[in-house]
Amino acid sequence: MQSGPDVSRETGGFRVRTAADIAVAAASFDDDHATPLARAAEHIVLARQGARMRPPMTRPSKTRIFVVANQKGGVGKTTSTVNIAAGLAQLGQRVLVIDLDPQGNASTALGVEHRRGVPSTYDALVDGEPLVDVMSESPEVANLWAVPATIDLAGAEIELVSVVARESRLRKAVHGHPWVGTEADAGEDRFDYVLIDCPPSLGLLTLNALVAGDEMLIPIQAEYYALEGLGQLLETVDMVRAHLNQALEVSTILVTMFDARTRLAAGVAEEVRDHFGDQVLKTSIPRSVRVSEAPSYGQTVMTYDPGSPGALSYLEAAREIAVQGASR
Ligand SMILES: Nc1ncnc2c1ncn2[C@@H]1O[C@H](COP(=O)(O)OP(=O)(O)O)[C@@H](O)[C@H]1O
Ligand SMILES: [Mg+2]
Repeated sequence: MQSGPDVSRETGGFRVRTAADIAVAAASFDDDHATPLARAAEHIVLARQGARMRPPMTRPSKTRIFVVANQKGGVGKTTSTVNIAAGLAQLGQRVLVIDLDPQGNASTALGVEHRRGVPSTYDALVDGEPLVDVMSESPEVANLWAVPATIDLAGAEIELVSVVARESRLRKAVHGHPWVGTEADAGEDRFDYVLIDCPPSLGLLTLNALVAGDEMLIPIQAEYYALEGLGQLLETVDMVRAHLNQALEVSTILVTMFDARTRLAAGVAEEVRDHFGDQVLKTSIPRSVRVSEAPSYGQTVMTYDPGSPGALSYLEAAREIAVQGASR
């Protein structure tokens, strides 16, 4: 019989806490077939040293613009946006997060100020301020920038209705950024990834994101009813593709808050894979307390607890995305 807490549950099998473990793992840093343990140790060092431990992963030849959307609330959009963004930055990519949710949760998690009056997504969308003037650099992670959302953005949904080209305001702002584009247009300073964190609705803000982006990242929570409502989202995507943005592609599905102990989670993940096939990332994100604690420290879990299973999974998910990106 077991006594005391079952550590392997919360750590998902990664036991990275002892110095001895880390020392053993450190020996195999250069091994691309590294064990999870070695990866964990590597990531702890990597997070502290800003990705200088290894050569950066190959950058895509042009900025990849991801829309992180799912009109359901609480499925992990914001958590996935900020952690994948930080993970990509830690892998040597230059990344911009655009907070498009008036709640400003992505801004909070990235430690970027978003009280009323701070230059924000609202100014870019409604007043046409250049995006470059409203972004700021992440205080925690190198190579990561963010455009914060203030509560003003709540009004934008209505204010935009009467504005010219109301559904393509964000596209104009993003493509007007000097660091967005191909190597030829934007040079070495270009962003490799732009991630847009959408609000939980299919209103004008989300529509702006769908018109601005090339790819969609849909987080799906591994729980009952996970696929419910997705039909509506995919219909919206089809509509956008037909009329407003032909290039939009649902490239990436991420299963979040996966609880390996339940059959339900496994069943949902399987259903998601049956439905979406290769679009689903191999890495699922486990449910982990550290992931949900990080924002209250103004951090992503990638710096708050780099060796935790949540951080390692997000790093792995970011790596999968970067590997696809390297061949684009
Ligand atoms: N892997 C995870 N483990 C534990 N809690 C999580 C995880 N992912 C997200 N959460 C928590 O679930 C809640 C909803 O996540 P969030 O990313 O804000 O969803 P959305 O942006 O889709 O509304 C938040 O409180 C967040 O901290
Ligand atoms: Mg959110």
